[in-house]
Amino acid sequence: MESSSKVAEKVFKQKKSDFDIDKLSNDNKLNKLLKSIITEIRLYAEDQIKHIKRRAQIGIALSVEKDINKLLEMIVDEARALSNADAGTLYIVDDDKKNLRFKILQNDTLKTRMGGTSGVKSTFPNVPLYKDGKPNHFNVSSYVAITGETVNIPDVYESEGFDFTGARKYDAATGYRSKSMLVIALKNHENDIIGVLQLLNSQVPETGEVIAFSPEYEDHIASLASQAAIALTNAQLIQDLRNLFYAFIKSIATAIDEKSPYTGGHIKRVVDLTMMLAEKINESDEGAFKDVCFNEDELEELRLAAWMHDVGKITTPENVVDKPTKLTNIFDRISYVENRFELIAKTIENDYLKQKIELLKNGDNNKTKIKFLEENLTNTLKDLQEDSEFIKECNNPGEFISDEKISCIKEIASKTYSINNEKHNYLSEDEINNLCIRKGSLTEEERKIIENHATMTYKMLKQLPFPKKLSKVPEYAGSHHEKLDGSGYPKGLTLKNLPMQSRIMAIADIFEALTANDRPYRKPMNLSQAIKIMGFMKNDNHIDPNIFDLFIKSGLYYDYAKKEMNPEQID
Ligand SMILES: [Fe+2]
Ligand SMILES: [Fe+2]
Repeated sequence: MESSSKVAEKVFKQKKSDFDIDKLSNDNKLNKLLKSIITEIRLYAEDQIKHIKRRAQIGIALSVEKDINKLLEMIVDEARALSNADAGTLYIVDDDKKNLRFKILQNDTLKTRMGGTSGVKSTFPNVPLYKDGKPNHFNVSSYVAITGETVNIPDVYESEGFDFTGARKYDAATGYRSKSMLVIALKNHENDIIGVLQLLNSQVPETGEVIAFSPEYEDHIASLASQAAIALTNAQLIQDLRNLFYAFIKSIATAIDEKSPYTGGHIKRVVDLTMMLAEKINESDEGAFKDVCFNEDELEELRLAAWMHDVGKITTPENVVDKPTKLTNIFDRISYVENRFELIAKTIENDYLKQKIELLKNGDNNKTKIKFLEENLTNTLKDLQEDSEFIKECNNPGEFISDEKISCIKEIASKTYSINNEKHNYLSEDEINNLCIRKGSLTEEERKIIENHATMTYKMLKQLPFPKKLSKVPEYAGSHHEKLDGSGYPKGLTLKNLPMQSRIMAIADIFEALTANDRPYRKPMNLSQAIKIMGFMKNDNHIDPNIFDLFIKSGLYYDYAKKEMNPEQID
């Protein structure tokens, strides 16, 4: 379909060829008159085309702007430009439709800009739409917001029917003279009034003389206002959806962190650190980051990926998410083992007493035999106590289990005790398997369950219909446990296939986990120790060396430490 500006242009060109004024004779009075009429028409048509083109341009500019503050500012700027207005104000109707909220003020003469991107906060109060339960028709803006009518006043000082005390006070304070005023409602596609545009002091461009707003401007501004209202509603809807989405992912992140009482705030800290690293990369214009600059959409994509990097943990059983000791499943089974060892001690004492009674019953008062029994009891109980202590030590995830220790655990486990003539081993097969975990608290099976969270993160996020600019969120989030040398999980990707965003997140995730001060089963790690461990990871080609070097050289690690770590951790 042809745009209205093109149609107007075509008609105009057609008319121009039909009535070529240069061909008309100047001697003829009628021709002179005709010439002047045609010139007028041409100028008018040119002006109309200019306006139509400008409005089309404004329409496009408004529809692409998604930043609400910029959009509000643009509406007032363009409306003023279209009507030669010296000043303009924009109000938005509150969600509860009780007030007009002041958003933008622009005044060229006073060189004042408030709201929008100006950085100057509004000092103007809201305008109530109702007073004492009745529509507020005294204020011109609220009148327009309630009725939807356009109000065009040549001089507010001489106008009746509206209360302009506010304008007069403003003038008195600033030395300004508010005169002509055009107030138009912003109606969206559903004909709802969402705001009010107030333009002040239309000027003759050449002289600056303040005149009334011409009725022609009313049409231009009304058309702009309706485009603006639609653009604003769209931007607001997008903003609302975005807010809802962020609120939703933050509540999921909270739920995941809550799954482990020990890792509260992990996700939030990983997001913060990830974004701090991305900003440092953007600031850096040397070495590996010379040509790297994440734009706003890419930063948004990274932020979302960081918020959702552990979303797959929603499927991980709670007892595995943060297994504090080796024998923990739903609770720490070391208490079972301790009780059992006490029971074993009682059975040993019992046996001793039985044997002693037997000797005495048989009239055997041999002190040597009894002493032997007593010594045997003491030694056996001592051994049992040592075994129990040893098992308790092995249950600690910080305890490295050597081959020698594994033999000891197995030897203890193979010992037996009897209850009701039934023989039992000191330790069950499952207890042996858990106690023999060489490093940390997880069995191989449990490690796989934990690692599965990265696959689940990818699978869950892949199902979400992300817009194009956020389409990489699943990939970035699902790769935060990959390592440069291919030894990570879930896919074993290498540097070649690993996006920088995932490499940033990996460093943030590891550093947070190492330095977190809220894990009750281990002492918080010192800053120097964490840096040392990550240095080893860099040398082992696990983490990105350039990002890690930037993390250290830029001092970001220290900024983060000051913010998140206990002072005694920072050494
Ligand atoms: Fe993770
Ligand atoms: Fe994580």
